[in-house]
Amino acid sequence: VFAGLAQAPEDPILGVTVAFNKDPSPNKVNLGVGAYRTEEGKPLVLNVVRRAEQMLVNDPTRYKEYLPITGLADFNKLSAKLIFGADSPAIQENRVATVQCLSGTGSLRVGGEFLGRHYHERTIYIPQPTWGNHVKVFALSGLTVKTYRYYDPATRGLDLKGFLEDLSSAPTGAIVLLHACAHNPTGVDPTIDEWEQIRQLMRSKSMLPFFDSAYQGFASGNLDKDAQSVRMFVADGGELLMAQSYAKNMGLYGERVGALSIVCGSADVAGRVESQLKLVTRPMISSPPLHGASIVATILKDSEMYHEWTVELKAMADRIISMRQQLFDALKARGTPGDWSHIIKQIGMFTFTGLTSEQVAFMRQEYHIYMTSDGRISMAGLNAKNVNQLADAIHAAVTQ
Ligand code: LMR
Repeated sequence: VFAGLAQAPEDPILGVTVAFNKDPSPNKVNLGVGAYRTEEGKPLVLNVVRRAEQMLVNDPTRYKEYLPITGLADFNKLSAKLIFGADSPAIQENRVATVQCLSGTGSLRVGGEFLGRHYHERTIYIPQPTWGNHVKVFALSGLTVKTYRYYDPATRGLDLKGFLEDLSSAPTGAIVLLHACAHNPTGVDPTIDEWEQIRQLMRSKSMLPFFDSAYQGFASGNLDKDAQSVRMFVADGGELLMAQSYAKNMGLYGERVGALSIVCGSADVAGRVESQLKLVTRPMISSPPLHGASIVATILKDSEMYHEWTVELKAMADRIISMRQQLFDALKARGTPGDWSHIIKQIGMFTFTGLTSEQVAFMRQEYHIYMTSDGRISMAGLNAKNVNQLADAIHAAVTQ
């Protein structure tokens, strides 16, 4: 019955890994998917995560029972505290409904579905460009997806004017997807002053912010600093949605750990919102998985383990920053035409190089370097051994 089915295209990001795995070259380098690698090019399980797992395994009182539909209660509370801050007025006033979800994507999907069912305005504005999966997640949630200008290729920086103009002409009450920090794919974030302008405009138009926080701790190396944008929108007393992922900042990629929080107008509303979120989750996944959320809760509730986590997280962020400098220096040393200062200015896991899809294809063909066709490089995949290969490839691509 499926004989007439067309072959679906590979995912623009995860498909890069599929192509990489098929390449027999011993010199191949995968700079596609945003997943941390050590200086030796290996995946990393944080020490604090290993410790938490040991504690969980050795605890004879732990079973494998189903979690409630909303997930692990401790995990939810601690996740809200992590992003909104322990002294957040919304938390103190019990106005936050948090449910455990399948990492960032699952949190966005549950939030999108909830908005599609219960929010009066069905249009969501996402930045141009954004993480490719956003479009699909929200379209599947029954929302109309439109874009706002975000990135200016000429300056390789924020197009604040375009951003504000596009929000100004969007309908009152529209949903606006915002990257909390370390914007994917551009590595360009608004400054605090720029966030304030965005916040004022959005609140004056009663727009609903939907924050995606996949990189808390990866932008500055400091968890609180990376939550500043979000906290500004909570401090004004308004409502918002927040999707959190622990894939990158705790290295829990495959465990699929995340949370959706909805900041509401009152505790009473938050209770009803939570009851409706359960109706979204139950037919989708029944209830979320236990193991990863238990790891996160174990770490977040113990001050010593929490501290160890922040040190390990900062080490990952710092290694990426040092790779930015090394790549920039390597291109300078080669006299590669163009201004490459954006490599050191952009933040988070990615550099949005400005390379064209033809140049990306050339680098894959000639140098076995794999990246997404929009010219995004995952800086986390670079190390002292492959940075020169990348610099050679970029140099050849722009001078060919
Ligand atoms: C990325 O952008 O590379 C990551 O968020 C991984 C993914 O799922 O796309």
